Amino acid sequence: MTDLPARDPTTCVACALCRGRSRVVLPDGPVGGLMAVGEAPGRQEDEQGVGFAGPAGRTLDRVLAEHGLGRRDYARTNVVRCRPPDNRRPRRAEIAACQPWLTATLEAFAPRVLLAVGQTATAQLLPYWTNRHLERLDALLERPSGDGELPVYQGIPVVPMPHTSGLAWNRRTPDGRPISELGHRAVARAVAMLD
Ligand code: URA
Repeated sequence: MTDLPARDPTTCVACALCRGRSRVVLPDGPVGGLMAVGEAPGRQEDEQGVGFAGPAGRTLDRVLAEHGLGRRDYARTNVVRCRPPDNRRPRRAEIAACQPWLTATLEAFAPRVLLAVGQTATAQLLPYWTNRHLERLDALLERPSGDGELPVYQGIPVVPMPHTSGLAWNRRTPDGRPISELGHRAVARAVAMLD
């Protein structure tokens, strides 16, 4: 079993994010299916203690629902479990401190496919994807589907997607396509892995 920073996940003080949080946002959802991995809890997630509960989560729910998965049909977690101040990106040391929780989450939920929501989650699951995230995603989605075509993390196939925050989702790719279009294609690929 993984070395965890605290026995009770709700009292973790492994990094400085514990000082500003209202609640630790624990993973939730069904085991053995699709798990979305986000960056960090935002304001609403911090208040409610539920992952992807705010606007970015509603967009994610809507896109997954369009591809046949309701909110109860997929699981959620984040690279860090506590909200960073002012929703800044989590720091390297904070991500490292939370890593044992992520490992334990994936062991416990045993997902069949991971949907890495945004660049921070993608860089954590696939470190060599740090640069040219959207170009790499586009290239990956061009390839035929199948387990062997996807990168893996802890042995689980990973489909990266753009972040669903309004800021990221409403942008365009350098060649002018809506980023949301890439997001829909990524979700379709991830859901197809469940067949
Ligand atoms: N909500 C989350 O729980 N994670 C994100 O990455 C964004 C919104």
